[in-house]
Amino acid sequence: MKHFLDIHKTDPADLRQIIDTALTVKKSRAGRPKGALDDDLPLKDHMVALIFEKPSTRTRVSFDVGVRQMGGQTMVLSGSDMQLGHGETIADTARVLSRYVDLIMMRTFEEDTLLEMAEYATVPVINGLTDRTHPCQIMADILTFEELNGPIKGKKVVWAGDGNNVFASFAHAAKQFEFDLVFSGPPPLDPEASLDGLYSIERNPQTAVEGADLVVTDTWVSMHDPQSARERRHNQLRGYQVNKKLMDHAKPDALFMHCLPAHRDDEATSEVMDGPNSVIFDEAENRLHAQKAVMRWCLEG
Ligand code: CP
Ligand code: NVA
Repeated sequence: MKHFLDIHKTDPADLRQIIDTALTVKKSRAGRPKGALDDDLPLKDHMVALIFEKPSTRTRVSFDVGVRQMGGQTMVLSGSDMQLGHGETIADTARVLSRYVDLIMMRTFEEDTLLEMAEYATVPVINGLTDRTHPCQIMADILTFEELNGPIKGKKVVWAGDGNNVFASFAHAAKQFEFDLVFSGPPPLDPEASLDGLYSIERNPQTAVEGADLVVTDTWVSMHDPQSARERRHNQLRGYQVNKKLMDHAKPDALFMHCLPAHRDDEATSEVMDGPNSVIFDEAENRLHAQKAVMRWCLEG
């Protein structure tokens, strides 16, 4: 039984297989309506639970559509509507759900919640974001980069902004896919020291993006951050905004990514988000293709 909990916990050969499968299946259904079935149906007769303890647009819709394209069925569950949100243990929830469904995707706050779900479930569990990581997002980002610009190995990726959950998964990916990752943000928002990933730090964002093949940012205030931190974070992060002036320091064909949702003209200007280097909507689409490949991998053998 294979869980997909984090990029650094997944073998590089398996990660490569997932990206390659995603690309092959994406190509095979080019031009078909979104609701059309895939050529093969690895999720036929399979039931998938999608649990959300936080809001979501992309993760929710892309998993739901992906399961259906592969012949399966979904149920979308909100944590607060489940007994889970009213005191039932995660371990009991995991054991009960495993009697009904073939796969569980969970978006939650504490990483320990996800880990406990995986420990007690007897079906694969997929991480749909925690306060600490967002591996499905970064699989989609790597798929997007490679689809457009070839192998990411050896390329320079620069992160400007908050050292958050999305950055953490990028750092895990830098180790597994062997690309250079530079973090550029203010010291109070550095990634956590215990992060088992690979990256360097350059405080000056313009120096950081020199020669970059990919520039990435994310919201300055994540779902797990207190709203009271908003003003302070804006002051800390203003100098790390991705705008045209900053992008001009990267390679001319550098890609710009943002996992979305964005606060336009905070972490990135609309000029960049809608500009020629931006691939934010390819990135969003590739959530679907990457996660379908993740689910296939979880369910095979
Ligand atoms: N990028 C991402 O995970 O978006 P949602 O919060 O809409 O799922
Ligand atoms: N860092 C963001 C990502 C949202 C997809 C958050 O956790 O809110």
